[in-house]
Amino acid sequence: MKKTIGSDILQSEKINKLVKELAHEVHEKNRQIQGVKDPDPELVNEAENKRNHISQLRGRPLYHPYIGSRAGYGPYVELEDGSIKLDLINGIGIHLMGHGHPDLIETAIRASLSDIVMQGNLQPNAEYVALTDSLVKLAGKQSRLKHAWLATCGTMANENALKMARQKNSPAKLVVAFSDAFAGRSTMMAEITDNPAYRVGLPTYNEVLRLPFCGPRSGQECHEQTLRKLKEYYEQHEKNIACMVFEPMQGEGGFKYGTREFLLPLLQFCREKKIAIWVDEVQTFTRTGQLFAFETLGIGDYVDICTIAKTAQVGATLYTEEYNPQPGLVAGTFSGSTVSLAVGQEILRILTEEGYLGPEGKIRKIHESFVGMLNSLSNGSCRGLLADAGGLGLMVAVTPYDGTKQKTEALIKRLYKNNLIAFSCGKDPCRVRFLIPATIDEKAIMVAKNIIEKSVLEGQ
Ligand SMILES: Cc1ncc(COP(=O)(O)O)c(C=O)c1O
Repeated sequence: MKKTIGSDILQSEKINKLVKELAHEVHEKNRQIQGVKDPDPELVNEAENKRNHISQLRGRPLYHPYIGSRAGYGPYVELEDGSIKLDLINGIGIHLMGHGHPDLIETAIRASLSDIVMQGNLQPNAEYVALTDSLVKLAGKQSRLKHAWLATCGTMANENALKMARQKNSPAKLVVAFSDAFAGRSTMMAEITDNPAYRVGLPTYNEVLRLPFCGPRSGQECHEQTLRKLKEYYEQHEKNIACMVFEPMQGEGGFKYGTREFLLPLLQFCREKKIAIWVDEVQTFTRTGQLFAFETLGIGDYVDICTIAKTAQVGATLYTEEYNPQPGLVAGTFSGSTVSLAVGQEILRILTEEGYLGPEGKIRKIHESFVGMLNSLSNGSCRGLLADAGGLGLMVAVTPYDGTKQKTEALIKRLYKNNLIAFSCGKDPCRVRFLIPATIDEKAIMVAKNIIEKSVLEGQ
């Protein structure tokens, strides 16, 4: 069969052998990274200088004193100061498979041999086609989603989603969103985000109608009040509501998920009134035990538009036939690098072929073990100091002390000093958030337990 030069580069025996040798050599190095380690006194000064330099360039300090050394393995990452940290936040959810995953490194090396670095909608290569195809096929299993449009990040995927909803329902422009929502950093996504601290000095467009988000512990009253409010909004603004957007499980907002009992009446109402239902899965995609949280919650049939990013290594807006926009509405010169598109595709392959998903999958087991570990602390040595461990799948949070921002942030700094990387979420209470890598094992969960216990007790 006739071959192109391009397929020869990807498949020739010689290149394949070289790629595998390189990946193997890097793997052998990364594999040495096992367990946490304090900074090396000989490397500390130079690493600090570099951190100060980046802080000065950006005009503000890094949140964590972190610059990676470029090496890591599974849940562990090595820093330039020689320390090894247990990374339970993964760049806020980008590195689902943790660090130094050999298959991803091999995929990245192969993809880097391409003739171009970035791909976009005008001249896509095979990686763009393959990832789009996988996303559409996987999303279509339990929803009516039929198309996908790639974009550079979650915020851009959300902007495209908003445009699609508004165009289809034109001239409607209002957006129903929820308390504690987070939608990204563009001007409009900052308005959908329910945090005034993220838009200080920006004008207010008054295009968002806010509903309370009822978590799994809020009762029927919260559900009824929210539905009532949605109906009131509809009466006030009948023809002017373009869409309702929600995170199936709020990330930044405190790791609360919407139950079917809460969401279904709202979804039914929106469907009846032809308000677009847009699910922001930028953080939940691949994390809740199924690929999409709309599958975990059993609401896929209602979804008109779904946005993802982070684990996918690229942003994407998925949409039904009805919401397919007219030419000219969405574009963008590049969507992602050839390497990130190929790696995103490989992550999906690993997740779907290597037993991560479903009720018996690895994600479910990690969730039970990790939450069990946190509960053993809150029922034991950390009684009264840690509470409410829970979440879905690899998204787990716990409330420390009295849940004030000040005490939670101080604990996150102590965890970091003791070599565990976490982050905060939620306002009241402010919680410790973990985005657990899918490659964590029982031994690393025990390492986490010891560090969490030590750090919590230090702050008593
Ligand atoms: C739910 C949600 N939506 C949107 C975004 C924005 O994504 P990005 O940072 O890729 O622009 C995030 C990022 O954390 C998110 O969690």
